[in-house]
Amino acid sequence: MRLDKFIVSTGKLSRSEAGRAARSGRILVDGIPEKKADRAIDPEKNDITLDGELLTYRKFTYILMNKPDGYISASDSGRETDPIVLTLLPDELQRIGLFPCGRLDKHTTGLILLTNNGALAHRLLSPRHHVAKRYYYTSKFSLTEEEIATLQEGVTLEDGYVTLPAVIEQQPGATEGYITLTEGKYHQIKRMLEAVHNKILTLERVTFGPLTLQGLPRRGDWRYLNDEEIRQLEAHGQSPLT
Ligand code: URA
Repeated sequence: MRLDKFIVSTGKLSRSEAGRAARSGRILVDGIPEKKADRAIDPEKNDITLDGELLTYRKFTYILMNKPDGYISASDSGRETDPIVLTLLPDELQRIGLFPCGRLDKHTTGLILLTNNGALAHRLLSPRHHVAKRYYYTSKFSLTEEEIATLQEGVTLEDGYVTLPAVIEQQPGATEGYITLTEGKYHQIKRMLEAVHNKILTLERVTFGPLTLQGLPRRGDWRYLNDEEIRQLEAHGQSPLT
């Protein structure tokens, strides 16, 4: 594997930054400064350090993004004319097989996880694991107490599907609030509000399991997950959550 590719996989630097770091002597391979970022290394055998810190190889990449309005959550543009979320990442990260873990609608903003760990994504999205997803919404009308109770207990959508229990936080009379789901059917929140003769105006995902928008203040911002967040996600992927 190329040294710069290895450094990118650790989430420490982009490929161009890795090239610059190597040229300025910040990267050592088995204790010897290595100026050529494109040289081959074996992550199992070579000790690679950056600024004195020993780097560990990460087989998979995990990126958290604050999705802007108008972007499609897909890994390739297919027949879409709208931009896909992947295009917000640098070139080298567009070529490592990342895909969004679950879909947000084109006009939904907020938290989206991109990874190339297919098995973990599959587990996190499986209904069995009940990963909680919290959304901030604005709606056309305020929800009555009765409607909130219906939506929380399980509402019948237009195709006959009855939703799993959800949590709604809304002040009386307000046309905004939070809704937490543990499933992710197509256009689910929009269809839930339609089922009580209301309409979603805006939707923003604010949490996904243990992950939050912290550190991603602007739309289009992205960052690597840290080791603790990866550990928490893997734990979520293993045992069913409530
Ligand atoms: N529910 C929706 O209706 N849209 C989303 O993007 C996510 C949940």
